[in-house]
Amino acid sequence: MTADHESPPRPLAARRTGALQGTVTVPGDKSISHRAFLFGGLAAGRTRVTGLLEGEDVLATGRAMRQMGARIERDGEAWVIDGVGNGCLLEPEGVLDFGNAGTGSRLTMGLVGTYNFSATFVGDASLSGRPMGRVLDPLREMGTQVLARSRDRLPLTLQGPPVAAPIRYRVPMASAQVKSAVLLAGLNAPGITTVVEPVMTRDHTERMLEGFGARVEVDTDAAGVRTIRLHGQGELRGVPDFVVPGDPSSAAFLVVAALITPGSDVTIRNALMNPTRTGLIQTLREMGAAIEILDPRVSGGEEVADLRVHHSALRGVDVPAGRAPSMIDEYPVLAVASAFADGTTRMNGLEELRVKESDRLAAVAAGLEANGVRHQEGPDWLTVTGRPDGSGLGGGRVLTHLDHRIAMSFLVMGLATEKPVAVDDARMIATSFPEFEGLVATLGGTLEPVG
Ligand code: S3P
Repeated sequence: MTADHESPPRPLAARRTGALQGTVTVPGDKSISHRAFLFGGLAAGRTRVTGLLEGEDVLATGRAMRQMGARIERDGEAWVIDGVGNGCLLEPEGVLDFGNAGTGSRLTMGLVGTYNFSATFVGDASLSGRPMGRVLDPLREMGTQVLARSRDRLPLTLQGPPVAAPIRYRVPMASAQVKSAVLLAGLNAPGITTVVEPVMTRDHTERMLEGFGARVEVDTDAAGVRTIRLHGQGELRGVPDFVVPGDPSSAAFLVVAALITPGSDVTIRNALMNPTRTGLIQTLREMGAAIEILDPRVSGGEEVADLRVHHSALRGVDVPAGRAPSMIDEYPVLAVASAFADGTTRMNGLEELRVKESDRLAAVAAGLEANGVRHQEGPDWLTVTGRPDGSGLGGGRVLTHLDHRIAMSFLVMGLATEKPVAVDDARMIATSFPEFEGLVATLGGTLEPVG
């Protein structure tokens, strides 16, 4: 089942209503939740997960792991996973349908690409348009055959070799998904699989694999280049009590909503503060945002904290290209914050935004255009010139192109623009943040169906 085929599009609009107030908890981190199903499903024995994000993307990964032999059940607030044991995935019956999920599909391709069986991957229109060569190229080096009607796009079938070759692979773009896919492929290859990562991306795979008992060694040289060595065919063991921290990429929408809406005072509990994920908070603070980091603590081996956010006078800044990996999913909502900043915000190094759930650079630029925000779009950059009180802004209808983050970003914008902002389809929000609309309402924001 793919989300975009289940029901008709659901247009939704946001309207300015006044200050946002209150305390909320965002749901579990999407990246970590996918990996909890993948690694729990692979590891021998039982893994019990609390705080899992029950978004459509993550549930698709859980279904895929079930199709390959893992037992996965919900038990009250927790998910209980009985894994198959490393090297023991079963050939899936039927196709593996990942819906809208790039992370689920790409990491699973890595996981099964070195198995001597065939697995067919399908997805929705958005996922079927996204480049998969970045994962398929290293898999081919390991011996995987790829059958696809349209080169390196879904739907496609993988057939792994009898014995996979461990490789040394330098990731050509800043991508945690590619790094992860190669490491996961290495789990079923003899010897050591090495990934060289010139620019550090989110490190959940390395951290979590270690927690599940894999032998992983990470070296970082003076230039920041990371070399990750994974010893293949080792034992993975279930983690009895795995806690998923709150998703900073979901928190981002509520943080920006509070910053741009006059009078707001919002506390967001339990946000992951892993430094590979906090680029937006750093950038917003440079813009003058009042974001207090409260009660920093460690939960499930990760740093987490509560964020208290007050409405703030923002000013435009230059965001360095090197920061992109630590805030790659946050540029759409940063563009929205920038629409309320005094002056111009310049964002660079955005080439990866072109291949997300939509071409996010084009989708953001079109959304800004539709709502009267001054901006310029380049091949890999965006500038936005703000209007601090939101006067004259809004009134547009934004095309979301099956992209949850485009939908949420522009709904946030409409909470503070003079005129309402509508999005053509709010269905995809359920892929990553099903609670979004309810939490906005809890804080006092107004979202309304559009007739
Ligand atoms: C993710 C990595 C990022 C990010 C995505 C989740 C992950 O993608 O955009 O939402 O969980 O590894 P890339 O690796 O393609 O940059």
